[in-house]
Amino acid sequence: MIELTRLEKHFGEVRAVDGLSLTVNPGEFYAVLGPNAAGKTTTIKMLVGLIKPTRGTAKVAGFDVQLQPLEARARLSYVPDFPFLYDKLTPAEFLAFTGRLFRMDEASISKAAEDLVPRFSLEPWLHKPIEGLSHGTRQRVAIASALLHNPEVFVIDEPMVGLDPHHARVVKDTLKERTRQGMTVFLSTHQIHVAEEMADRIGIIHQGRLVAEGTAADLRRKAGTDGALERAFLALTEPGASTERVGTEG
Ligand SMILES: Nc1ncnc2c1ncn2[C@@H]1O[C@H](COP(=O)(O)OP(=O)(O)OP(=O)(O)O)[C@@H](O)[C@H]1O
Ligand SMILES: [Mg+2]
Repeated sequence: MIELTRLEKHFGEVRAVDGLSLTVNPGEFYAVLGPNAAGKTTTIKMLVGLIKPTRGTAKVAGFDVQLQPLEARARLSYVPDFPFLYDKLTPAEFLAFTGRLFRMDEASISKAAEDLVPRFSLEPWLHKPIEGLSHGTRQRVAIASALLHNPEVFVIDEPMVGLDPHHARVVKDTLKERTRQGMTVFLSTHQIHVAEEMADRIGIIHQGRLVAEGTAADLRRKAGTDGALERAFLALTEPGASTERVGTEG
């Protein structure tokens, strides 16, 4: 479960996130959809505790990310838009390292890796240094490592960028499967079709504010567009569009 309450982040004059409140229920797949510079990455960085909010709170599984960081982070996995991996390690070593960070024993690490390595087609690369891997392969290593400890809450920033269609499918299917087993997913994207296909609910953000929220069908209806979600998205996020917040104020 994720709870963001009147979250704000200012960078000088820029209000990157400007009073964002939303709740993601356990086992729910939530996509935050917004144009470039809408505040998606900044929101995610506050949610995972990488940057401190100017105002407001972020909670993971009931734990305040600022006040109870260890409790929150133990329940969380995060795949950034540009994952950091140790270049000199191999994927096998990186998976083992991540597992130990999350206090998994060797048997549990092996068992989880036995599922994830073939699933993400990592066998050919398993014992080669990460520095020699392609962008998409590195991304698959990052996602596999983040899923290894079976997190309660999984946060992923722009996951499909850099993945070929086959591997994008595998990642989507895996995340869907995990949500059915109870994992909560918070995904950011500017790709409408990703949000539409994957998410139980979508929050559209524009200029740091939630401008609409609901299922894809809700959003089409609210925007008065009978056709594609793209039209609703474009209408809500065009430069100069009103960013009056939807009814999420507490
Ligand atoms: N460290 C920073 N210092 C100054 N401004 C920042 C910083 N990080 C983000 N911003 C600004 O905050 C706003 C939101 O940026 P953010 O990266 O959250 O957008 P985004 O929705 O993730 O966009 P994209 O789709 O391009 O990834 C932008 O105006 C950006 O320039
Ligand atoms: Mg971003």
